[in-house]
Amino acid sequence: MKTILSFSKPAELETESLVALVLDHADKDPSQISKKKNKDTKQQLKLDTDDAAVQSVAADLLASGEVTCKPLEVNLLHKPVGLKAKRILLVSGGRAKQFKAYDLRRVAGAAVRTLKSRGIRSFAFVAPSCIPAEDAVRAIVEGAFIGNFDPDYYRSDRKDQKIDVLTIVTSGENAALEKVVSASQIIGESQNFTRDLVNEPSNRMTPTILADRAQKMCQEVGLHCEVFGADKIKEMKMGAFWSVAQGSDEPPALIVMKYEPAGASEKPMLGLVGKGITFDTGGISIKPADGMEKMKYDMAGGATMIGAMRAIALLKPKVKVIGIVCATENMPSGKAQKPGDVQIAMSGKSIEIINTDAEGRLVLADGLFYARQLGCTHLVDAATLTGAVVVALGSANAGVFSNDDALYERFHQANEKAGEKMWRLPLDDEYKENIKSGIADMVNSGGRWAGAINAAMFLKEFAEETPWIHLDIAGTAWTEEQKPWIAKGPSGIALRSLVQFVQDFAV
Ligand code: BES
Ligand code: MN
Ligand code: ZN
Repeated sequence: MKTILSFSKPAELETESLVALVLDHADKDPSQISKKKNKDTKQQLKLDTDDAAVQSVAADLLASGEVTCKPLEVNLLHKPVGLKAKRILLVSGGRAKQFKAYDLRRVAGAAVRTLKSRGIRSFAFVAPSCIPAEDAVRAIVEGAFIGNFDPDYYRSDRKDQKIDVLTIVTSGENAALEKVVSASQIIGESQNFTRDLVNEPSNRMTPTILADRAQKMCQEVGLHCEVFGADKIKEMKMGAFWSVAQGSDEPPALIVMKYEPAGASEKPMLGLVGKGITFDTGGISIKPADGMEKMKYDMAGGATMIGAMRAIALLKPKVKVIGIVCATENMPSGKAQKPGDVQIAMSGKSIEIINTDAEGRLVLADGLFYARQLGCTHLVDAATLTGAVVVALGSANAGVFSNDDALYERFHQANEKAGEKMWRLPLDDEYKENIKSGIADMVNSGGRWAGAINAAMFLKEFAEETPWIHLDIAGTAWTEEQKPWIAKGPSGIALRSLVQFVQDFAV
């Protein structure tokens, strides 16, 4: 999708469709609503534009009482009198007081999905004035990219409906906004690149294919990339990673991507480590058949890191970053590890395998330790790690864990700017009890209670003193039901926060 900035008057734009935002300005503060229904509490719908001609085409509809203004309600008008546009799409944003850039992303996504399903290929979005121009432009571009993605590649009747050109109509300083547009475009494309990887089923996204895709991407954007196979994994004594890989006929891949911009200081060096289980059967502790097909997205954390490295390479922040993806299948076989086995991780710590389905933490244990060996001073990992995080937070928030409050604060700031929802969960020492083993340094599965925390406590043993953030995206990496602003399928969660986090490190 091409993105163009326009500073012309919305009414003067020739386009397939204008898109404008409707907000309800009524003061619905409960303390102000009297018992007898007071007129002030009625809707006060307004288009968020100061273009009088645009206001006027919407006036009758907004006064009709037919528009509820529920968030993401859409109304399409044809041949709007006085406008050069062929159509105008009004997207509701709900209450004006609560409307944020976060909501604007969804409005833009909903506009894209509404228009493209009608066969429209280009439109012009009137940036609302209620949000600072740079934030608005960013939200519109990113939201539009999110909405433009569809996961239906393997349908033979695929219609390939996409928006080709997005125009953003705004006012403000041209040069600054142009920068925002191109940066947001890079982020939107990288997020969709990640979603493409996650969307592939496991027969078409083996560890080898994932590594090839990463290598190809790195070549395109000028990143250094190395891929190590089984021999090197064993040679480096990555016993935890290998213990998962040993059961599969598909060779594992350790993908290492390095971004080292000229002029960046030696430290900090950020390490982004992703879980790349291209299919998780559970291994010998096999999963039930019901829903197992979803475990093709168990490489979403890895794909997120590959997409984030792409965005970083193109945005060029002045800070060193290493991306590491531990890619393998988790399969049962005659060679597979068994419950009770003891494995020695790269760090030298011993692990008693209680459940072979707790494999993500095993591959990440070695990934995190390796990142530290390469000199990373700060670590972030992303993984579809536990069903327990889905029980705790559902699909609205990803789980965040950290061993360092200051680093968490930095991440939280980036996370808010990026407009992704995440919630911190605790890592108190008490939980360490849960991963005690009778025979080794720890077990890989801490039982039923606090499952997401136990997994994070396990990882913490390998981050040790290095400031570290862990993102459990099991509930958020795959959208189970389509929404007005996003298709069902891979969401690309965490990429925007990670990229923002890295950019904020560069001074
Ligand atoms: N990949 C799964 C976690 C998962 C669950 C991802 C649902 C996406 C959706 C992970 O490897 C796993 O199997 N975790 C186990 C751990 C348990 C055995 C300690 C789980 O959560 O059940
Ligand atoms: Mn598993
Ligand atoms: Zn898994």
